Amino acid sequence: MGSINPETIKYKPLHDEAEIKKRVQELGAQITEDLKGEGVVVVGVLKGAFMFTADLVRAIKAPVIVDFIGCASYSGTKSTGTVRITHDLSTDIAGKNVLLVEDIVDTGRTLDYLLRILSQRGPKSLRLCALLNKPEAREVPINVDYHGFSISNEFVIGYGLDLDQRYRELPFIAQVQT
Ligand code: IMP
Repeated sequence: MGSINPETIKYKPLHDEAEIKKRVQELGAQITEDLKGEGVVVVGVLKGAFMFTADLVRAIKAPVIVDFIGCASYSGTKSTGTVRITHDLSTDIAGKNVLLVEDIVDTGRTLDYLLRILSQRGPKSLRLCALLNKPEAREVPINVDYHGFSISNEFVIGYGLDLDQRYRELPFIAQVQT
């Protein structure tokens, strides 16, 4: 999206507040059922998943510890970019149920890296919940245990997702119109 001025874009709402709220409740209920009464460490991926994580933890009816992990892609393009941790967990996840919460699964490279890093720390279980899934963009196979909505291969903003750090605060998910 490099050539687009984030201040002058047009966007079209894709999923409104009510739809998101309903879907988050459904996800929370499914996750609660799958936990079978056990607790979970919910790990939100910064920054994009901050809003989804905040809503999702309130829909999970089980003992929850909330933590965040930050990561960044560096060295260029999506296809060759490597991922590194910019902010690590403060929780020891060994022996615990872990739910990784991400805004969107696009190529899958970020999650492929994060899931490998977290599984090396010996969690009891490790599941992934993504707000959005873009299956057409996948370059690395990822097992997405829970997802809010499947979308086509277009750029979206809002409800945590940004375009050059803008529009995270929108309470709905919108598609950027080019
Ligand atoms: P991946 O490693 O290609 O799966 O990309 C993951 C990251 O790219 C996400 O966590 C987002 O931060 C960002 N991203 C991918 N697609 C979009 C989009 O449509 N809107 C905003 N951010 C996106």
